[in-house]
Amino acid sequence: MTIGSTENRAILVNSWNEWDDLEEIIVGIADYACFEPTEPGNHPQLRDKKLAEIMSFPTGPKKQKTTDKANEELAGLVALLESQGVIVRRPEVYDFRQSLKTPYFEVVNQYCNVCPRDVMITFGNEIVEATMSRRGRFFEYLPYRKLVYEYWDSDPTVVWTAAPKPTMSDEMYREDFWAWSLEERFASMHNFEFCVTQSEVIFDAADCSRFGRDIFVQESMTTNRKGIQWLKRHLEPKGFRVHAVHFPLDFFPSHIDCTFVPLRPGLVLTNPERPILAEEEKIFRDSGWEFIFAPQPTSNNDEMPLFCQSSKWLSMNVLSISPEKVIIEEREKPLQALLEKHGFEVFTIPFRNVFEFGGSLHCATWDIRRKGDCEDYFPALN
Ligand code: ARG
Repeated sequence: MTIGSTENRAILVNSWNEWDDLEEIIVGIADYACFEPTEPGNHPQLRDKKLAEIMSFPTGPKKQKTTDKANEELAGLVALLESQGVIVRRPEVYDFRQSLKTPYFEVVNQYCNVCPRDVMITFGNEIVEATMSRRGRFFEYLPYRKLVYEYWDSDPTVVWTAAPKPTMSDEMYREDFWAWSLEERFASMHNFEFCVTQSEVIFDAADCSRFGRDIFVQESMTTNRKGIQWLKRHLEPKGFRVHAVHFPLDFFPSHIDCTFVPLRPGLVLTNPERPILAEEEKIFRDSGWEFIFAPQPTSNNDEMPLFCQSSKWLSMNVLSISPEKVIIEEREKPLQALLEKHGFEVFTIPFRNVFEFGGSLHCATWDIRRKGDCEDYFPALN
């Protein structure tokens, strides 16, 4: 199926899935990054439990040295992508040290724009700015606006949508979520209720995974059912199918790209500790998709960087240059071996200094253009 044919058009924005040949991409930047504020949608924790007893999670700007190290590794990613013929663009630098006060909330500082994946998403020729789910990230679309205007001004086929901005008022959150014990989480894992309520449309872009005509959206701490409903009503009239997906054993789900990562048509890298719901797995099986389990990461959760809020599964945050070439973090040798066994050429780069800025290689990027059109990879759904 073809929703928008790309033949004979000088198009700038065109990306339908996570794996087609990459032509142009945005890589985030760490300047002026701050520690994420504590707020009803986010209770950041220090990794070291002993330290956490005597010290609270910091606020304000990250150290210059920390930011420099992250920028160095981001520059390494840029150099690798460019060496593979990919055009790389960067967002504007934005001062995240500014506090915010809106009619509904206040935060002492904002976060960073290292992870464009969380905010911005390309569906074919359309750029969507997510609603976002956290106060400290409310204005994170701003550093991308210059790029968006450039694509929109130069290519008349580009469609640009900003999803409804939520109030981020107290009613939007379920503060007691943070106090639930693991036993309570286990007992209620099939309710899929997290720190956001169902009162407003909420989604982060990184909860979506693009498989051509089919878009899979994880219900999470950062995306609620109304958010998925909004995506469905927005995208389905254009020919997409939007499916909610759930990983009940992930008690703190946010962003699908450390849980369920498509590598090429018919192949998904899956998280062995976070299986997808059986009835949702069936959609993939019925259309002949194969799952491969990611191997255990080389660091356990306690060995992740002190201020990093993501799990060890950042290991599987793979960025695809094409259906045959992928980039992973340099320490992840078992994953490298697995991917090579499945026929991939694997590039490895150091990226651990980026982890505390919100993620790894897939998170730190936003696809603008990949070769190829909208395909239907799920014949059993027709
Ligand atoms: N919540 C994920 C985990 O800890 C991390 C996701 C990071 N992804 C991103 N796009 N920022 O496993």
